[in-house]
Amino acid sequence: MLELSGSRATELMINDLWYKNAIFYCLSVGTYMDANADGVGDFRGLMRRLDYLHGLGITAIWLMPFQASPGRDNGYDISDYYNVNPAFGTLGDFVEFTHGAKQRGIRVIIDLVVNHTSDQHPWFQEARRDPKSKYRDWYVWSKTKPPQAGEGMVFPGVQKTTWTRDAVAKAYYFHRFYDFQPDLNTSNPEVQAEILKIMGFWIQLGVSGFRMDAVPFVIGTKGADVRTPREQYDMLRSLREFLQWRVGDSIILAEANVLPNTDLQYFGDDGDRMHMMFNFQVNQNLFYALAAQNTQPLVKAMEKTKPRPYSGQWGIFLRNHDELDLGRLSDKQRETVFAAFGPNKDDQLYDRGIRRRLAPMLGGDRRRLELAYSLMFTLPGTPVVRYGDELGMGDDLSLPERTCGRTPMQWSTEPQGGFTKSDKPVVPVISGGPYGYEHINAAEQRRDPNSFLNWMERIIRMRKEVPEIGWGDFEALDTRDAAVLALRYDWRNNSVLFLHNFASEPREVGFGVGLKDGRGDLLVSLLSSDHSRADGRHRHTVCLEGYGYRWYRVGGLDYLLKRTEF
Ligand code: GLC
Repeated sequence: MLELSGSRATELMINDLWYKNAIFYCLSVGTYMDANADGVGDFRGLMRRLDYLHGLGITAIWLMPFQASPGRDNGYDISDYYNVNPAFGTLGDFVEFTHGAKQRGIRVIIDLVVNHTSDQHPWFQEARRDPKSKYRDWYVWSKTKPPQAGEGMVFPGVQKTTWTRDAVAKAYYFHRFYDFQPDLNTSNPEVQAEILKIMGFWIQLGVSGFRMDAVPFVIGTKGADVRTPREQYDMLRSLREFLQWRVGDSIILAEANVLPNTDLQYFGDDGDRMHMMFNFQVNQNLFYALAAQNTQPLVKAMEKTKPRPYSGQWGIFLRNHDELDLGRLSDKQRETVFAAFGPNKDDQLYDRGIRRRLAPMLGGDRRRLELAYSLMFTLPGTPVVRYGDELGMGDDLSLPERTCGRTPMQWSTEPQGGFTKSDKPVVPVISGGPYGYEHINAAEQRRDPNSFLNWMERIIRMRKEVPEIGWGDFEALDTRDAAVLALRYDWRNNSVLFLHNFASEPREVGFGVGLKDGRGDLLVSLLSSDHSRADGRHRHTVCLEGYGYRWYRVGGLDYLLKRTEF
């Protein structure tokens, strides 16, 4: 394949591999802005907010499922892959939206939910009715209840089984998720061809790629006789090839919460599979680090997820639309995170996670919020912001399961937070209390230079000017203090350095930058004017306030003049 590795990639590729230095923003059209006053957000509303997003500085939108759907799992139960849910608009509105985004230099990636369909999908309806239908084999059936039916549920506590009997089919069908989401038989070549067709369709309508849902399950073998699914990694290469043949710079961002020793199977040794993956390993250990004020496991998670092809990239996130899954931490670590951020049973979900949004988890403490986001923007990879987090939006725990963190965007102090003119929003707008739209909304934060929104805009602007984070190699420096993380990135003859103090009290740390010939003697602070000069032994001493952070350029601000092309 084309040589994409390390030093041989030229300056040109910085522009081509756009996702390596992008700012993703994830949103759900139904809860963003409602232009036609029926209480449900729509594409026309979203279009009116493109200038807001442009001003915030994000460069790519990850749009959650918007296709036709009965809506029993936030749209992750699709009943027609080739149509927009009428509540959100038409295909015409969708194309206007992708065009409007493109005009502002914003790319759009959309969810590709092909592990399962809705049980209302005509494919499933026909499959259950007619054993001779070609769609019968598009799903996974068993005449009798397989012995492992009580295993492998993704939503334990809510979902009771992975095999449910269908009275019409007179057979059991497999569903990794809820029972209204029958799994597609993804090993069937016809299903595989249909998946490509779905990708081709949306690519043609202007999207730049896909956030692929539940990848390990899509590629895992399925069937009544399968006790331990085997991943068919080759499928990933076919998807990638097809996409790249159609539109060269489109990408797949994989949702795969897997162990680090299989990461390379997903990226492909030659970078020939998924372009991006969410870094769940770093995510969970980051929350542990915040809870325990101990960064050692986080550094370990970063080291373990370091190997990746040069064209591969991590998606770095704090919270998303799902629960904060802590399933990969040890029991003791998980208890520490629960105690710090979700001590009540009602904060927790599926025996493994926390369903709260970030701001309430951190007690609305501005210092901790800045620390967390500063980390998200400086850990190795590409940051993924969740809508509303730029305002510090909260959650509504009276709503079931994960819906608590999926409330409408809070735009202003107008009724319903300016989300809709209807008095019946699809999900209640958070009102009253510290996180109500009366206090937390975009309009007021725009006016206030010290608001979280304006902080976020400034940090995003700075992040875009530090491509070393997305492209470079990192090294964790020894600060002799487990509460303080020091990271250096090197790329094209330049280095940057970041300090984060996870402790609530101030810490003074001493460290060497680790570069030869005194090249690390001057650290120019990018967010404030407290630069640092090394002592005669090339060591720096920096005093960080509680939850304090620093972004430094190593050397001086002439880095662009010094930057090499290889
Ligand atoms: C993914 C989505 C989640 C959804 C599930 C089933 O895990 O992130 O929201 O419920 O897939 O599609």
